[in-house]
Amino acid sequence: MDIIVAENIRKKFKLKNGQKVKNNGVVSDEVEALSGFNLKIRKGEFLVLVGPSGSGKSVFLDLVSGLSAPTGGVIYLDGKPVQAPSAKTGYVFQQYALFPWRTALSNVECGLEAKGVPKDERVRIARELLSLFGLSDFEDRFPYQLSGGMQQRVSIARALATKPEVLLMDEPFAALDAQTREILQNELIRIWEGTDTTVIFVTHSIDEAVFLADRVAVVTARPGRIKELIEIDLPRPRTGEIRSSTEFARNRHKVWLALKSEVSKAEQYTKLATGFAG
Ligand SMILES: Nc1ncnc2c1ncn2[C@@H]1O[C@H](COP(=O)(O)OP(=O)(O)OP(=O)(O)O)[C@@H](O)[C@H]1O
Ligand SMILES: [Mg+2]
Repeated sequence: MDIIVAENIRKKFKLKNGQKVKNNGVVSDEVEALSGFNLKIRKGEFLVLVGPSGSGKSVFLDLVSGLSAPTGGVIYLDGKPVQAPSAKTGYVFQQYALFPWRTALSNVECGLEAKGVPKDERVRIARELLSLFGLSDFEDRFPYQLSGGMQQRVSIARALATKPEVLLMDEPFAALDAQTREILQNELIRIWEGTDTTVIFVTHSIDEAVFLADRVAVVTARPGRIKELIEIDLPRPRTGEIRSSTEFARNRHKVWLALKSEVSKAEQYTKLATGFAG
């Protein structure tokens, strides 16, 4: 069953103060971020979006979350058009976006507070999640007292606390060092494999995409649409060892092939726009 269906999505932004941009070579005062974007996401799947910078990946997540509306087309969530933010969707951003005045525990509780869950229950759920991420000893710490990796664990725990049907993750590990990043990927996949949450995860790392995904959706250079959907045929549960297997390398190569021409197209556009091309 498909939980999310994006049908012929188009998203344009009007530029201000006489700013101009090129859309497919034509100068305009509107940025066309997405055009002809179609995607069906299965219930419970881990879908990873990869694509050049500026290809509309974050714009797509914002549309799924209901934070913004498409210029054309419809996104269905559980069969209903998305029109506003809903409790069915959780969002984890690249920057940790925790409330600085709240402890780790209280940050994880906050979505549950908004839902009116009683205090005892909130604390129980938040403690359980912090413990899954190995943060039981840090529940009283404020964000500034936590490392980047710990802050991002708290952000993910906070997003999972309300048991969203769909979890949107926009480059959540991009700011972390390589070792912490791998550890968080392992933790995320272990925790996710025990839920029926559908995840849409954006990354620039092909390794991260292949390690996490059921399917990798490759987005074209702007205006973004789906170029290719690649099934990752690696067994689950996934553990760190899988990264050095030949199957992993084979899947990695497939994604790389689909992505590389789009990345060079996007580079070409940037050069044209900034006048560096000959
Ligand atoms: N509010 C806005 N006003 C004008 N243009 C916008 C706005 N938001 C996004 N865009 C443009 O839409 C395009 C897609 O942006 P988006 O942030 O989705 O890219 P992305 O694929 O997430 O890139 P990255 O990988 O660098 O995060 C870009 O050209 C961006 O400049
Ligand atoms: Mg982005």
